[in-house]
Amino acid sequence: MYLSFSERFRGSGSGSGNSEVRLTSDEQQIGNAARLAAWAAGPIMTAGLGNIDPSEEVESKIGSRDIVTEVDKKCQEVIRDTLHSMYPSHKFLGEEDIEPGISASKDALQRFKNEPHLWIVDPVDGTTNFAHGMPLCGIIIAYAEYGVVKHGLIYDPFRNESFAAWEGKGAYLNGKRIRCCRTKRLDSSLVGTGSPPNIESLKAGLRASELISPKCRSMRIVGSAAINLCWIAVGRLTAYFEADLNAWDLAAGALLIKEAGGKVTDVWGKDYELSTRNTVASNGLIHDELLKLLQQSRMWIEDFPVEKEVE
Ligand code: IPD
Ligand code: CA
Ligand code: CA
Repeated sequence: MYLSFSERFRGSGSGSGNSEVRLTSDEQQIGNAARLAAWAAGPIMTAGLGNIDPSEEVESKIGSRDIVTEVDKKCQEVIRDTLHSMYPSHKFLGEEDIEPGISASKDALQRFKNEPHLWIVDPVDGTTNFAHGMPLCGIIIAYAEYGVVKHGLIYDPFRNESFAAWEGKGAYLNGKRIRCCRTKRLDSSLVGTGSPPNIESLKAGLRASELISPKCRSMRIVGSAAINLCWIAVGRLTAYFEADLNAWDLAAGALLIKEAGGKVTDVWGKDYELSTRNTVASNGLIHDELLKLLQQSRMWIEDFPVEKEVE
């Protein structure tokens, strides 16, 4: 479906239309830049869905479980160009510029994290879904100053859902304030987890799923960290855990959840920061119960420093 520029922007959380958010002009401009960039990439994603042969037209990064398509690269290019045209001096950390693997992404973050103005971008989160024709993926754009995320935008072009948050100003879906669900018990919670490309991270997640699955209402592997995090912020999911995510997977969604009244920490309960990889996100109310089980199941990869004794 084609939407005109003004239709696309109506109510998408910039202070325009019937948005409930009250922003400074700087915050509004940052939000506009992120949204313009996401809206430039969205049609590339929607046009590309279903047109890829997942056995031929994907490039493997660290193996067949970690892939990239031409669409990921094109989306990143238009996002970078759009942001650069509005903020030429700002730095850009985009997934597709970084070598695959854990140490390369940690090194990249180390280089960038103290920049005064930094955009952190995952152009297509959920590439495996996308390559197989599943419309379940999102565009992630976060803006940080000196290591603190100030704005996060996740755009799901298949549902036309734009999730946006500004530090201290709340979280919004298409301009309407959103909050996490009020579920207080794990046995009435719907919990998401990931399917990470790295086998050690996958094993850690599977150990945790084995313990948590019988104790919660049900579990989902949605296939996109972005969608999991947005859906916690809007109350569709109660929680999500994954052993080893990158800064570009998490930065926008962590702010969304915090601003929607939820919580994002590492497996030991340390509050989210840009370098967090080992991730537990929830509505806040089941967080402690979940952390205990994740610690019991040793939901970390081998090189993750074990700082505490597990009871
Ligand atoms: C992946 C997705 C997936 C998660 C992986 C991520 P990508 O991101 O978010 O759900 O389990 O850990 O790497 O590669 O599609 O951008
Ligand atoms: Ca990702
Ligand atoms: Ca990606």
